[in-house]
Amino acid sequence: MKLKLFVTGGAGFIGSNFIRIALETQDYNIVNYDKLTYAGNLENLKDLENNESYIFYKGDITDFDSLNEVYQKEKFDVIINFAAETHVDRSINNSYPFIHTNVLGTQALLELAREAKITRFIQISTDEVYGSLPETGKFTEESPLKPNSPYSASKASADLLVRAYYKTYKIPAIITRCSNNYGPYQFPEKLIPLVILNAIRNKDIPVYGDGKNIRDWIYVEDHCKAILKILENGVDGEIYNIGANCEKQNIDIVRLILKILGRDNSLIKFVKDRPAHDRRYAIDSRKINEQLGWYPETLFEDGIKRTINWYRENQNWVNNILTREYFEYYKKQYETRLGEILNE
Ligand code: NAD
Ligand code: TYD
Repeated sequence: MKLKLFVTGGAGFIGSNFIRIALETQDYNIVNYDKLTYAGNLENLKDLENNESYIFYKGDITDFDSLNEVYQKEKFDVIINFAAETHVDRSINNSYPFIHTNVLGTQALLELAREAKITRFIQISTDEVYGSLPETGKFTEESPLKPNSPYSASKASADLLVRAYYKTYKIPAIITRCSNNYGPYQFPEKLIPLVILNAIRNKDIPVYGDGKNIRDWIYVEDHCKAILKILENGVDGEIYNIGANCEKQNIDIVRLILKILGRDNSLIKFVKDRPAHDRRYAIDSRKINEQLGWYPETLFEDGIKRTINWYRENQNWVNNILTREYFEYYKKQYETRLGEILNE
């Protein structure tokens, strides 16, 4: 019998990549449960519509009755929680949906896990819960939680709930904390797809502050494979950092994408900084390397070219996003940012 996975947030960026990769193994049946917020897009999974190992339910993770109804029908074995509000800038504008979905939604899923016969609960968290690093050092699983944005605070809160339910109710839970992902199907409000799409259309690219903030990048497929490894061999109650040792300054990424696309650096506009903008993230992933034998496979230079090509080749997906009503919010933010250009 195949293991049945209940994947929440599977219509988003990482969740949809995960579902595709998990189905390719032929080892799993998948129930995708997603509210389809502005970031959820069933087009991401169009190729799987007729796959017999896959089923979709529209629903909200904060709604316990709806979760329970799906459980009674599907009797899944494992919960993997990707569902979340995920964009830091949006959380700075309005933190309510972040606390609601990321904290109360995780609580409802944990309550479901108390009642259901779940063999594994994987909480997809983020390295952002650790806060910001100085020029040296890396986040380990023991680093203190020091979130600086409403987004990261909501994710850290969820992590604490997962820990508490593991301790109190013996929910077989694991927390993963991955660094910044890039790859196909990412909503173009995040740095890399934003830069690619703006560069293709010859539009200005807003770079926050001095552009020297550092993120530690991982190709989304490598993250998904790490989750599969944890699903198969992870240990209950443990936290696993996931990263690909790939620190880059934002400005270098922007320049590289412009170069690959043959665009001029004059598109770059330095704009007012994000409040409490974390300076540097860097993940120490030796635990998952050594204990579970997972290693990233994709070099940044290859992953970024694959990503750029994907956005170039999937104009229908891109046009659909750019003309959808929900993209209006981003456009307003973008124009505000470009109204705050700094003197360089
Ligand atoms: P995303 O914004 O692309 O997708 C989020 C998905 O969750 C969407 O499909 C959305 O419709 C769904 N969703 C939102 N609220 C919901 C609710 N109340 N009920 C059900 N579904 C809901 O996000 P992503 O980048 O794919 O991130 C997925 C997870 O990975 C998140 O938990 C995020 O914190 C974590 N993460 C992301 C990154 C990254 O770089 N993108 C890095 C580390 C961890
Ligand atoms: P983002 O993709 O929002 O991810 P996160 O803030 O969760 O790491 O941003 C990545 C980095 O790029 C971050 O340092 C903020 C910066 N950034 C810009 O400079 N300009 C932009 O338009 C965006 C969206 C991000």
